[in-house]
Amino acid sequence: MGVDLFAGLANTTLPRLDRAPKILVFDSGLGGLTVLSELTAALASADYVYAADDAAFPYGGLTDEALVSRVLAVIGRLIERERPDLVVVACNTASTLALPALRARFDLPFVGTVPAIKPAVAATQSGLVTVLATPGTVRREHTRTMIEAFAGGADVTLVGAPNLAAFAEAELRGAPVDDAELAAEIAPCFVEAGGRRTDTVALACTHFPLLTRRFKQLAPWPVGWIDPAPAVAKRAVALVGESPEGRVRAPMRCLFTSDRPLPKPLIAALEARGLGTIERERLPLN
Ligand code: DGL
Repeated sequence: MGVDLFAGLANTTLPRLDRAPKILVFDSGLGGLTVLSELTAALASADYVYAADDAAFPYGGLTDEALVSRVLAVIGRLIERERPDLVVVACNTASTLALPALRARFDLPFVGTVPAIKPAVAATQSGLVTVLATPGTVRREHTRTMIEAFAGGADVTLVGAPNLAAFAEAELRGAPVDDAELAAEIAPCFVEAGGRRTDTVALACTHFPLLTRRFKQLAPWPVGWIDPAPAVAKRAVALVGESPEGRVRAPMRCLFTSDRPLPKPLIAALEARGLGTIERERLPLN
């Protein structure tokens, strides 16, 4: 399979609609909420359904083959159920591997999320950039090809954090991990070499921006943390067009693929993000 450096861009355009577009925002868990926030700010009057494939979380732990077939199966079911006009894959781990297969299978525009290497390289002063991702994204040929294509003169360190996505989930579930555990996950991001220090970290997993406030407190020195969500939202706006004025959108809904009960702090966090309606589309991971 050839590597498509433009995997962040959509495959096909949206037909003209005489109603608000329906956008399915998809992730393995709660990380895509960081993308949903940017989308709702940028495209206020679209209708949104957020889907978390929590039955298969974390995607970073699946083999490549298992991940592609899981993503095709779950998104296929969600497309049948929701009939969206656009799908935003708010997950680097899935996008960097499964976008070509999704685009080949479904006749819908897909916007993916890929590591924000270009903006990180544009932002660095020291020339030392880190890409912090899940182990799955770190393994991808796609990620390495993007680094080769966009690093320019910068030295890019690729860090796979095995537990960080789960730590972000724990934070939203009201059971934050302690500082030492979080600090250990981000420690390899901070490189000192030849009198220079890392000054920019690209957060290449949509879960990680949920922890930015704590990263800032725990960082051994200040760095810029690059969130991929604004670029994803910009791409969705380019496809969908500006929001028609004055339209009130349908209440947003949140779908989970497991039966796992939601703790109260998570229900409150979802409500605070406008997701008061919780539904289930049960899809156990065999
Ligand atoms: N939120 C996902 C991403 O952007 C990954 C979390 C997981 O491993 O499931 O990569």
